Formats: sequence, C-alpha cells, structure tokens
Amino acid sequence: MDVKNIEDLEKVMRHLPSLSMVVADVLDAIETHGDDIDYISRKISQDQSLSSRVLRVANSPFYGMTRKIGRIKEANVVLGINAVRNIVMSSSIMEYFPDRKEGLDQYGFWLHSFAVAIAASTLAEQVSVDQDAAFISGLLHDIGKLVLSTFIHDDYQTIITQCEKEQSLILDMEQKVLGYDHAYVGSRLMRLWNLPDELVTTIRCHHELEKDKKYPKMTCLVHVADCLCRALDVGNPGDPYVQKVSPYALSVLGLTMHDLTEGIERVFENVSYAEGIIGDIQGVICR
Ligand SMILES: [Fe+2]
Ligand SMILES: [Fe+2]
Repeated sequence: MDVKNIEDLEKVMRHLPSLSMVVADVLDAIETHGDDIDYISRKISQDQSLSSRVLRVANSPFYGMTRKIGRIKEANVVLGINAVRNIVMSSSIMEYFPDRKEGLDQYGFWLHSFAVAIAASTLAEQVSVDQDAAFISGLLHDIGKLVLSTFIHDDYQTIITQCEKEQSLILDMEQKVLGYDHAYVGSRLMRLWNLPDELVTTIRCHHELEKDKKYPKMTCLVHVADCLCRALDVGNPGDPYVQKVSPYALSVLGLTMHDLTEGIERVFENVSYAEGIIGDIQGVICR
C-alpha cells in the first residue's frame, strides 16, 4: 500500500501482525506470576522458536556463561526472569523489522535503542522507577522511526538527509515534511499492540516531557538516558542533533547535573555492553 498520510499509515499499522500471542502471554505471565519460575519456563517452552531464541541469546558471549544453558528453566534461574523477559521482548520486536539496506541505519538505530534501555535501567533505581519497565521504555522509545523508515521509505530518507544538512532535530523535520512525528507513530503502534499505558504515554511524550501528566518520571528518565547516549555518541538515532538535558526532567527526577556527571561513568560502563547484546540478538535472528 502506498502510504500518503497518517490515515494510510494507521491502516498499515493495524494490519501489521500484532505481538504474537505467545510473546504477549509470556510477558503477561511474568507480570502476574513474577516469581513462579516453573510456570514462566513452561510458557516460554510452549513456543519452539521463542525458546530457541532465548537459549541462543542466553548462551551468547554477552552473558559470559562458563557452561551451556540447555533449558529455559535454567536460563530463568541463572540469568533471572527479568533478563529473560528483556530477551523475549527485544528479540521478538527486532524480528518485526528486518534490516534494509537504505533509510535508517538499523544497526545504529538498535544500538542507540539498547544503549538508552541500558542507561535508563542503570539510573532507574536512583530515581525510584521500575528498572525493567525503564529498560523496555528505553528500548522502544524511538520505535516510530523504524515504522516510518519501513513504510514511507523515500520521504524518510529525505528527512534524514535534511536533518544532517540543517543540523535539526528529527522530530521537527518529521513534522515539517509529514505533519506528524515518530513519537506519535510509536505510541500508536504500542497502543495497537495492547502494550501498557505507561509505555504508550512515555513514547508519545519523550520529546514533549511536560505533556505527560501520568508518568512524568518514566518519560523524563527516558529523555535523560537518550541525552546521555547521544552525548556518549553510542549508536545512530538518525539525526546528528544532540539534545540538551531538560532542567524540567532533572527537577522531576530530583537529580542535579552533578548526579548525572557521577552517574555517567556507570552508564558508560553498562552501555558498552549494548553492542554485545545487539550483535548476539541480530546474529540469532539472521541465522
Ligand atoms: Fe525520539
Ligand atoms: Fe532516541
């Protein structure tokens, strides 16, 4: 289908296969039966392709296991349910958008997304935000860019090129060229996939922080993590513009610039793992 406007794009998104029942089921099981390793392991094992993805990533160099993990239950025990949940979520979403040669640099995009996920979860505890929800929000905050690059490919290529030329924020260029932006598109996709309202809202507001009246801490945390990863120059979010940390975000989170300078070392250390994770997951998916 030729996508000419936001209504066309909505139609295309509505026809995208939704997160598979199995993945939705597993995420739901983790939410409701958090500590029941047997139950969650059974749910994951029900789907062969999902469980083989989890085992491959669990055995990848990133997790540095000295012995082979052969069963899902073992992965849950050794890596922890939360790490397994993140593997389930990220490998499933990455599978949705196969790599393309042109448009958004997908490797750079995922590297940026993982780095923001790791940075957000690194800082989460300090600001009393749930660490796993922070990881997923960071991972998916820019997912709308991938949708745009996939479905309105030529226009998005122009947007990326223009951003570089004019050194402008991609959001502004998207609004100028299309009349809508990746924050809106990403939040619509999350809504269509029935993902939690907190995720939908955070993605919708990650460039317009003050509009989020429901989950301001999560949205501000993702913004700060986004800024740090840009400052650290990890990955390629599609535009060269380095956003400044919003003083509003710092006040919502109760952080000072001094706290950030102290935290950045920890973030940098953890973010350097992003490349390892993405390599492992891409390797698994492309096999
Ligand atoms: Fe963004
Ligand atoms: Fe970003």
